[in-house]
Amino acid sequence: MKKDFVEYIKTEFWFSDEEVAKFEEALKRPLKKSVRINTRKISIEDFKKKVEAKGWILTSTPLWKNIFYVDRPEEQLNIALWNTPEHISGYFYVQEVAASSSPFYMSADKIDDWKYIILDMSASPGGKTTQLLEYYPNSLIVANELDKSRLKWFFSNLDRMSALKAVATNYDGRFFKQIPELFDKVLLDAPCSWEWTAFKTDDALKYRNLKNIKNVAKLQFWLLEAAIKTTKPGWEIVYSTCTLNKFENEWVINKALEKYWEYVEIVPIRPHPNPLLWEEREQEQFNTPSTNKGERARGWGFFKRNWPHLDLTGWFFIAKLKKVKSISTDESLPLTRGKARMGAVKQNFEKLSRNEESLVSDFFNKFWYDLKWKYLYKYKDEIHLTSENLNYIWDKIFLYKIWVNIWNIKDNSFVPTYYAGTFEKFSKNTVVLDKDGLDKLLQGFELEQNLEDGYYQVIHEDIPVWIAKQKNGMLKSMVPTKMMRK
Ligand SMILES: C[S@@+](CC[C@H](N)C(=O)[O-])C[C@H]1O[C@@H](n2cnc3c(N)ncnc32)[C@H](O)[C@@H]1O
Repeated sequence: MKKDFVEYIKTEFWFSDEEVAKFEEALKRPLKKSVRINTRKISIEDFKKKVEAKGWILTSTPLWKNIFYVDRPEEQLNIALWNTPEHISGYFYVQEVAASSSPFYMSADKIDDWKYIILDMSASPGGKTTQLLEYYPNSLIVANELDKSRLKWFFSNLDRMSALKAVATNYDGRFFKQIPELFDKVLLDAPCSWEWTAFKTDDALKYRNLKNIKNVAKLQFWLLEAAIKTTKPGWEIVYSTCTLNKFENEWVINKALEKYWEYVEIVPIRPHPNPLLWEEREQEQFNTPSTNKGERARGWGFFKRNWPHLDLTGWFFIAKLKKVKSISTDESLPLTRGKARMGAVKQNFEKLSRNEESLVSDFFNKFWYDLKWKYLYKYKDEIHLTSENLNYIWDKIFLYKIWVNIWNIKDNSFVPTYYAGTFEKFSKNTVVLDKDGLDKLLQGFELEQNLEDGYYQVIHEDIPVWIAKQKNGMLKSMVPTKMMRK
């Protein structure tokens, strides 16, 4: 199978034997582990200082400034990266370099302070959602994921990264064609075939077959149609996949360009701001975009493909479209979820009563933390805090989750979740722990502390780690058992 795949790549992309050999060689190298620093919580310099003091080696990646390859000392490898305090506190996200390209190309790597409403149509596990939050700090990100089994990990990633300006929905992405022209930007990081697993094992491609790929491509096209319809005129859609084949990429884009030729245009993607990283071939394509309509529709020279042997990353495909004209909504499909009809959505979340609101603010007052510009919502026995006023989508989209879940209501009393202590450093009722203390708490032990009973924000190396509870002279972590270290 792998042979068929390589043969396909060779013929479709006009690779010489030498280039094929380089491509095959690159497939044998495991992808290097890389981390994206969450610059909403910590600067690149501070993060580097902090982890380099522990012996981590961060090496710049060929593409983005806040993503680094990471190597850790042998003796630390018994603790998984995702179990380190920096990870639990949302200071970084483990993300493959190429996979971070789509938000990068959407934003041209610039922080944009404008207030947009952005749809991340297939969002789990949340790498790109959390990256969008960095590029668009004042925007609301609607992060949609269809597969319920993928929600748990996705939610915990957004919890930990303090995604206070994101909400989650649980629709089949095709549903969004029924919500015309709501979003300024849509990211469709499409579900795709298993081609990328070629990096993992030699026979990973054994399930690769053309029929399956073409079926996936059909779904991708439908999702892209929905993305086009739900985008406001004048705004953009970024389409990406982690496959190389042309069915899931060029075919999907070209079909959309043909069907919606009056409404969308392709936006050429400059391969990378650093011309040293442009391959000559790409430069030629970019500098000589064809004026022939057919060739333009094929988009050759307008997309960005990451190649393992050229870019030294995983493989990836990205295209950008601009919606230039409003589309009549007459052809909307029947609703897939009755509840979600515009103007008739009944949310599971409710606003808090005055009494509940004052209980929450009393809690935060103890930490001298002001809830100004924060909004509180309740769902069953959970209280969620967001920094976004959700009124303008409230009756349009059924919300599945609002970030971040700060409290649970148990037996009529309020218990903070550990996330309540992760999104900002408080100025009072904090307790500073060294590595040993933190490790003990993480292993489920209680720590003797001379403090009054109550809740405290644990600080480690200046990082607000989480909320812990002090009772009868002992401090106890509130991190769920499943996240504890063995
Ligand atoms: C490539 S992954 C997304 C990765 C994610 N954007 C990230 O960066 O972490 C594609 C996701 O699409 C979801 N998916 C599959 N079919 C879908 C559909 N019809 N509508 C919305 N999402 C779908 C899959 O469950 C999967 O989580």
